[in-house]
Amino acid sequence: MRKLVYLAIAAMVFTACGSEKNSKEVQPGIKKALWGQKDNKQVDLYTLTNKNGIEVKISNYGGTVTAWIVPDKNGNKANILLGFDSLSGYMAPPPYFGALIGRYGNRIANGKFVLDKKQYQLATNNGKNHLHGGLKGFDKVVWDAVVVSDSVPSLILTYISKDGEEGYPGNLKVTVQYTLTENDELKIEYNAETDKATPVNLTQHNYYNLTGDPSNSILNHSLWIDADQYTPVDSGLIPTGEIKSVKSSPFDFTTATKIGARIDSVKGGYDHNWVLNRKDSSLQLVAAVTDSVSGRKLEVFTTEPGLQFYSGNFLDGSLKTSSGKPINQHTGLCLETQHFPNSPNQPNFPSTILLPGQKYHSVTKYKFSLNKN
Ligand code: BGC
Repeated sequence: MRKLVYLAIAAMVFTACGSEKNSKEVQPGIKKALWGQKDNKQVDLYTLTNKNGIEVKISNYGGTVTAWIVPDKNGNKANILLGFDSLSGYMAPPPYFGALIGRYGNRIANGKFVLDKKQYQLATNNGKNHLHGGLKGFDKVVWDAVVVSDSVPSLILTYISKDGEEGYPGNLKVTVQYTLTENDELKIEYNAETDKATPVNLTQHNYYNLTGDPSNSILNHSLWIDADQYTPVDSGLIPTGEIKSVKSSPFDFTTATKIGARIDSVKGGYDHNWVLNRKDSSLQLVAAVTDSVSGRKLEVFTTEPGLQFYSGNFLDGSLKTSSGKPINQHTGLCLETQHFPNSPNQPNFPSTILLPGQKYHSVTKYKFSLNKN
């Protein structure tokens, strides 16, 4: 009898925790649940689980990572991302929570650029500028999804961005593969091909809060970035073109420093591109963020030349978590691997132009670990 009561309680707890109905295992380590409908397409939520019990939830709506559930140093599990339990949370829409970003991550000044002597006008959605792909960027489309589970769970998302979409030239076929590795890494591999020359700069927009509680600030997290230089911006957050040393400035994270230590001397907070120290485009460790209270640590590896560190400055409490708590300023931070913002208008920045016949390829890994001391 007692055993039956335990089983009933366990079943109730399990049902209450599971936010997705109809969740089915589709491959070892991958569950799929119907999450809703958008643009007359089915939207699903996939849960990838690795052998260590780490879970990542990803939707084919926007390629959005809604949750990354990991333990703290005492074994207590929590979601280290800002995100929502239901698709309706993403319809508001939140500022790119967990989403794939494209065709161009970050800003293009005035939404304009010249390519092969022709001027292009992109959609403007951030004052007079173009941000994160425009009005309906890759974060707001339904991607085609395929699951793979050879040895580790993986989700392959594909989207064809049509010639002229948001003002961009060329049909662009984009594939993004998310893999949860046995080393607790979320690996993101981007591939793209075009039939006309076009700017491409793909990234991913997770907002991390390593405390696992979005009511805590991230200002006590420590950050290290392997970058001696950054790209200063104007009042519209467009790089001025200068590549400036971080030395003796609040942008110097070459030794791990608390985010809150100098943020007050950065107007508006951190929202800048760091020029990573690197000799080639191999996959390299470029940044790490830690929370000493939970013991959680996240390392960033990338093949990209830049990193946008955004300290959640525009979060203002108007969005609420699924449990109804306000999402306040500096309660999430983004570490977006990328080419530099506004590169199509800055000849001194590495080129972001993809030509027909070329293959765009970029890899980023976020590695979770615990510091148990
Ligand atoms: C940008 C911010 C922007 C945020 C969310 C970041 O990548 O740099 O300026 O507010 O995304 O939209």
